[in-house]
Amino acid sequence: MPIRTAVFEPPFKIVRASHVELGVRDLGRSRAFYVDCLGLLVSDETKDALYLRGVEERNHHSIVLRHAREVEAHALGYKLAGEEDLDRAAFWFTRRNLPTSFPDVPYQGRTLRTADIFGMPLELYARMDQAECMLQKYAAHRGARIQRIDHLNCFTPDVQASYDFYSELGFRLTEYTETDGGDPQLWAVWLQRKGNVHDLAFTNGLGPRLHHIGLWTSGVLDIIHICDVMASSGYLDNMERGPGRHGISNAFFLYVRDPDGHRVELFTSDYLTVDPDHAPIRWSLADPQRQTLWGQPAPASWFNEGSAFSGVVPREPALAARPIVAM
Ligand SMILES: [Fe+2]
Repeated sequence: MPIRTAVFEPPFKIVRASHVELGVRDLGRSRAFYVDCLGLLVSDETKDALYLRGVEERNHHSIVLRHAREVEAHALGYKLAGEEDLDRAAFWFTRRNLPTSFPDVPYQGRTLRTADIFGMPLELYARMDQAECMLQKYAAHRGARIQRIDHLNCFTPDVQASYDFYSELGFRLTEYTETDGGDPQLWAVWLQRKGNVHDLAFTNGLGPRLHHIGLWTSGVLDIIHICDVMASSGYLDNMERGPGRHGISNAFFLYVRDPDGHRVELFTSDYLTVDPDHAPIRWSLADPQRQTLWGQPAPASWFNEGSAFSGVVPREPALAARPIVAM
């Protein structure tokens, strides 16, 4: 199970995970969940799409909900440092025989559509239209008072291969889970670009599929509050796991499912990882405090269910190791 040396001079510079586009069947139902309940702000609304952002975000959108017949994830978005990085990225993906195109994407500057080695659809860009920062317009903060997007978490059929691919692009390992025994295998990895625990995480499983999007709240009480709001506004069954504290990342969390089953994590209180000599933390797959510091295991749905990517057939993982699952 090779842990790789961090790449500090990647072929192009990714700043952070920035947005996701999800297919949803009923925009009105999704609006009620994401806006009226969770409290995201609407940047724009068209006949077939909703563009959402958190209260501190200047980017026009961090979540795009697009009306679709299939409940799928359409794209994972990353912001690059500049236009030259976009050209370097196009060159890099083309040389690896991965698909590249530059479609027009609303509210974004030049946008490279490509895919990783398992077909996860990626959207790379350097500039997005800017929206009003609502950070200090406290009267407009609702629900979980979501500040910003934090990370993307995906199932992969081969954690080592996904880790190797993104390591080359400058993603640095902060924490990882591996199997025990004589020939330990990577079971999950947390990878960062922006300087906290992760922008992107991979878990072993039927994949590629999107496991969840992580949305940052400014404090634990925002997460407790949204539990009360969901429990008293018809969303009791949408609360899947938590609230609790992860062992991995130290984050306080709540996992909820949107009306189509896409999973959202409300997340806060992880830590800084910018030091160049910051060493990754190892967890055993058998450690119950890995998932939840307080010991409760996650439900089976958390390990089995996720959103497929459009046009990508997920495959079974090579590694058969199973985590601890709640009965
Ligand atoms: Fe997460």
